[in-house]
Amino acid sequence: MKIAVIGGTGLIGSRVVTILTKSGHEAVPHSPSTGLDLLTGQGLAEALAGAEVVVNLTNSPTFDDASPAFFRTTMDNLLQAADATGAGHVVVLSIVGADLVPDLVYYRAKVLQEEILKAGPLPYSIVRATQFFEFVGAAMSWTSDENTVRLPATRVQPIAADDVAQAVADVSMGAPLRGTRNIAGPEVFTLDELGRITLAAQGDRRRVVVDDQAGLFAAASGDALVAKDGAVLANTTYREWLAR
Ligand SMILES: NC(=O)c1ccc[n+]([C@@H]2O[C@H](COP(=O)([O-])OP(=O)(O)OC[C@H]3O[C@@H](n4cnc5c(N)ncnc54)[C@H](OP(=O)(O)O)[C@@H]3O)[C@@H](O)[C@H]2O)c1
Repeated sequence: MKIAVIGGTGLIGSRVVTILTKSGHEAVPHSPSTGLDLLTGQGLAEALAGAEVVVNLTNSPTFDDASPAFFRTTMDNLLQAADATGAGHVVVLSIVGADLVPDLVYYRAKVLQEEILKAGPLPYSIVRATQFFEFVGAAMSWTSDENTVRLPATRVQPIAADDVAQAVADVSMGAPLRGTRNIAGPEVFTLDELGRITLAAQGDRRRVVVDDQAGLFAAASGDALVAKDGAVLANTTYREWLAR
């Protein structure tokens, strides 16, 4: 099966291309570096030609007020082109609990992306994942200085990018869900706890200070970002991943 992977050079996209290819599919990665700009539509018709499945793993360059326009325009362009080229399945990767964090504009943008897909003309699947292990370092860097890392005690259930990619590839090779599959890692942590585990593993002597106003995830309360009933739990633990 020919599968177009938009954002196929990114963290998740490159892994999805590898898994689909090993499974015997013709998975083709597309991104600005291969001549496709989903924002302007340049190269889109050529990228989708002959693809039965289109997987959208693009990301907005920023998490700020520009992100809704990115996800709206790219989803509109993608659906219009995929309809025209006759794709039978569009897959999107979103975020567990995105609808439960209304104060975070990037999460509202992801919900907008989902809504455009659901209202569109094509059979679809949404995979919602929790925060990637690979994203923890970035989240820590936003609110750290040379002595401390400030993190909120937000509860998270992070997952390895490899496990996310496997779930996205599995869904892409199957029939459209016409719904959402939630995936998460095997363990729940508070973000400050995750920060301490990370620093210890890296021999970093800085101190983690709980600050419930610090960073992007301060906007999430309670169990908003934790796996919901029916979620598929991956096997890789955070400490196993850190040890690799
Ligand atoms: N981070 C998390 O914890 C988390 C959790 C759940 C879901 N997600 C979702 O997972 C998705 C993938 O994330 P990721 O970390 O794999 O992203 P990433 O590594 O930043 O990769 C983004 C991909 O999109 C491509 N891209 C950017 N702008 C484009 C455009 N205008 N036209 C075409 N392609 C474009 C990039 O191409 P270049 O490399 O050429 O720029 C790259 O291939 C995102 O939608 C995100 O919301 C993330």
